[in-house]
Amino acid sequence: MTRARSDRVLVTGATGNVGRAVVAALTAQGHAPLRGLRQTETDGDVALDFLQPQTWPGALDGVGALFLMRPPAIADMGKTLIPFLDMARARGVDRIVFLSVIGADRARWVPHHAVERHLRDGPADWTILRAGFFAQNLHDAYRRDIVEDGRLYVPAGQGRAAFVDAADLGYVAALALAGRDLRGHILTLTGPEALDFDQVARLLSRRLGRSITYDAATILGYMRHLRRRGLPWMATLVQTYLHVGLRFGQARQVTQDIPRLLDRPATPLDDVVARDRATWRCGTG
Ligand SMILES: NC(=O)c1ccc[n+]([C@@H]2O[C@H](COP(=O)([O-])OP(=O)(O)OC[C@H]3O[C@@H](n4cnc5c(N)ncnc54)[C@H](OP(=O)(O)O)[C@@H]3O)[C@@H](O)[C@H]2O)c1
Repeated sequence: MTRARSDRVLVTGATGNVGRAVVAALTAQGHAPLRGLRQTETDGDVALDFLQPQTWPGALDGVGALFLMRPPAIADMGKTLIPFLDMARARGVDRIVFLSVIGADRARWVPHHAVERHLRDGPADWTILRAGFFAQNLHDAYRRDIVEDGRLYVPAGQGRAAFVDAADLGYVAALALAGRDLRGHILTLTGPEALDFDQVARLLSRRLGRSITYDAATILGYMRHLRRRGLPWMATLVQTYLHVGLRFGQARQVTQDIPRLLDRPATPLDDVVARDRATWRCGTG
């Protein structure tokens, strides 16, 4: 069924790092985005679960623009994001902004690869955001090590990463959803400089006012650490692979798409840590 075009913007993953930032950026610009959530919380929310196709038509009702992210726990795109995309297009969505990852075009095993290909095989109604290594990994994956052990413990060797702030991704996504016409564009979004983990530890120590060190993990040591922390096997393998990749420069690239689109530099990691320093306060959750 084809519906009349609407200006409603649906944001998936709206409780996550990037989805929250997309909602915040759109709201700050005067839009009223719909949050597609597994557990709705407010009147502005619609029920959406990628694993429950019966929720999809209601979530897409009257939607003209879609922010699409792939939840980390979902790997089978053929039963989830791809049929969801097909339904969105059939119902008149004509702006789709997909959160992908740098390298997804080359790495066929990365779930985003199939979604990118599906988008590009269809009409040019898409903007693909290929994001670099998130600054918010410090808030999620590394938080407990920082708070409880005063260390960063990853198998990244002396590899560098150009940490990108989810808030910057949110602003770019909001632009592509409700501002400039960026359909047909692939954007590569990174932070302003590539830092190694010794530099990140020094930066954290300075901003948090206590010593944080970088303990370069071995591959096996890291896997044991993640398993002891309760991570499932698959997530352990993916996390390890991503961090070992940093040794080989996988996330070192610095691009100019954020400054070009937002008309200001990308946010440095130092500013992210200063802004969010309460996240790593000792004794917090
Ligand atoms: N970490 C990095 O460095 C990095 C870099 C580049 C790209 N990426 C990509 O970015 C994405 C992760 O983004 P993020 O950090 O913003 O995510 P996140 O913080 O992990 O949040 C995941 C979101 O997905 C939602 N979700 C989970 N299962 C769902 C389901 N069955 N149906 C609908 N929604 C569901 C969650 O909602 P609930 O509240 O219901 O749980 C939550 O809002 C991944 O695709 C990842 O590969 C990550």
